[in-house]
Amino acid sequence: MNFHAFKPPDNEEPVFSHIPVLPQQVIVGLAVRPGGHYLDATVGGGGHSRLILAAAPDTRITALDQDEEALAAARRELAEFGERVQFIHTNFAAYQFACSTFDGIIADLGVSSYHLDRPERGFSFRHAASLDMRMNKQQSLTAADVINNWDEAELADIFFAYGEERFSRRIAKRIVEQRPFDTTTELAQAIASSVPPQYRYGRIHPATRVFQALRIVVNDELKSLEIFIQKAPHALVLGGRIAIISFHSLEDRIVKHGLRNSPLLQVLTKKPITASEEEINTNPRSRSAKLRIAQRVK
Ligand SMILES: C[S@@+](CC[C@H](N)C(=O)[O-])C[C@H]1O[C@@H](n2cnc3c(N)ncnc32)[C@H](O)[C@@H]1O
Repeated sequence: MNFHAFKPPDNEEPVFSHIPVLPQQVIVGLAVRPGGHYLDATVGGGGHSRLILAAAPDTRITALDQDEEALAAARRELAEFGERVQFIHTNFAAYQFACSTFDGIIADLGVSSYHLDRPERGFSFRHAASLDMRMNKQQSLTAADVINNWDEAELADIFFAYGEERFSRRIAKRIVEQRPFDTTTELAQAIASSVPPQYRYGRIHPATRVFQALRIVVNDELKSLEIFIQKAPHALVLGGRIAIISFHSLEDRIVKHGLRNSPLLQVLTKKPITASEEEINTNPRSRSAKLRIAQRVK
């Protein structure tokens, strides 16, 4: 999904327009049917939910998000559908899945462009902001806690494991020498100055992988995904489908193995579905999206 925030008149909430990734593939993959009940485990700006609500008459959605601001944005975006949508503020791993409830489940993982476009949330190193990165602001652990308190070896390990960062050790060393850090930009500069020059001016900013690792750790993203994939299939009706969109290899590995190893599911996508060149041109976030779909057969 791609959000474009524009500044609202005073005292109004920001408004977001958004483009859900792989829209047709999700609707076809879920085989949306009239009167069906769907779980959107990551409602975000409501892009995929809107598509499901529009795809067939009388569809209903249970919409989850662990971020209250995202949930509020989705409420506004989907207001016209009234009681066809029920909103719940929860991590999808903590959601109480009732058995055989949903005709389909969609999860579109990670942060939204909304998070990246709101500097104060601390997800982006392109704007100076406090090192936060919590999707759920009710939790206490922030990126600043990790960066300023964890020991050097722990930092190197998470940069390597969750960022696949090959300079993890030297970056961790530099961070420990220079901390405490207050802002995203200070941290990004320290990272950039600790890697070789050719890496510094490469295709992606040298802080990208470390920021990904921090975000995964702060939000315990991989653990939540593992729990979700274990629990969610039970909540599908027989023949119901689950569609999961991931954005990096660590997530995709969990999705691939989790769906394949579930005794309740049959995987429908031999290879993950990816975006066309045309979609990538209009929605750059779709470039790394991988969609896998499975069906409940037992
Ligand atoms: C990529 S956006 C979803 C965009 C949405 N599909 C759309 O088209 O508008 C991901 C959303 O999932 C939420 N999220 C990420 N991990 C979550 C989790 N474990 N539980 C609940 N929500 C989560 C984020 O807060 C974010 O709003």
